[in-house]
Amino acid sequence: DKVLRVGIAGLGTVGASVARLLGAQAKDLAARTGRAIRIAGVSARDPGRDRGVDLSGAAFFADPVALARSEDIDVFVELIGGEEGAARASVTAALQAGKSVVTANKALLAKHGLELAQLAEQTHAALAFEASVAGGIPIVKTLREGLAGNSVARVYGILNGTCNYILSRMELEGLSFAECLADAQKLGYAEADPTFDIGGFDTAHKLAILASLAFGVKLDADNISIEGIQDISLADIKAAAELGFRIKLLGVAQRTEHGVEQRVHPTMAPLSSPIAQVMGVTNAVTVDADAVNELTLVGPGAGGMATASAVVADIADIARGIRSAPFGLPVAHLAAAEKSPMQRHEGG
Ligand code: HSE
Repeated sequence: DKVLRVGIAGLGTVGASVARLLGAQAKDLAARTGRAIRIAGVSARDPGRDRGVDLSGAAFFADPVALARSEDIDVFVELIGGEEGAARASVTAALQAGKSVVTANKALLAKHGLELAQLAEQTHAALAFEASVAGGIPIVKTLREGLAGNSVARVYGILNGTCNYILSRMELEGLSFAECLADAQKLGYAEADPTFDIGGFDTAHKLAILASLAFGVKLDADNISIEGIQDISLADIKAAAELGFRIKLLGVAQRTEHGVEQRVHPTMAPLSSPIAQVMGVTNAVTVDADAVNELTLVGPGAGGMATASAVVADIADIARGIRSAPFGLPVAHLAAAEKSPMQRHEGG
């Protein structure tokens, strides 16, 4: 019946892809959700840049907070990035105004997810973030809705496309770390500051979100033991291969007798293991849970269209009137939940 009016803040790789996908899928989305979805407003640093998508029907806002509060939008899509600044201010403003929010911002959620979920609950707004973890893989909905009948023992995987792309190309093509990173940046996989990728912080942000969804623990990326891939050399990769292993950057969260442990570090995966076969920008997430036993999702972990796929799925949920508790439980329970114990560093 009524048109769903979308405001998009941030028109980088992902934002432009979301606009393109909403255009390309307009008919099917309207048929599926029963509502037409229209981009009513956008906000970006450079209004004039050619992004290969027609946004002439959308009002331009220099200030993302003004877009977030605009009477002319129903859903605010935050694709600015960063845990503070414009991203936090605009998401907060949208939720305060009772508008639903869709975000791909794992850093913001890892740091302020509880506070934002509280706000969303108070104003009955949706806070959706499928795109924040593992790009196009629908792991948020899988853990929150799909596996609600399970008790999860462990969730782990390759959660950063840039790192996996770098490690894969170094091994297969003998290229240097720097060359592979530069290509990952060109392809739009890397974070604005690629230290977040290669230092393991991006994986930690995503792991904190997965751990909260899987175990109901507080988001606590600061307590995760983190080792990145910055010190991995071509010689390390070759030596591992000679021994029958492949080096992968993994994020691991598991239930232990001391609570839920979370860590990020390069791991030697036996070449015969499924995780060792995951190459390039692909991510993989495995969940060990009592009823399903084990389940693995594999798919594109970064890149404009793959990430846009998850953003558009969240917009479609909102068009359908679906509003899940962001982390799958009442916020009061999450607020009272334990934090993970401080992690001892165990090395690779
Ligand atoms: N920089 C991230 C990655 C983007 O490479 O996985 C997707 O979150």
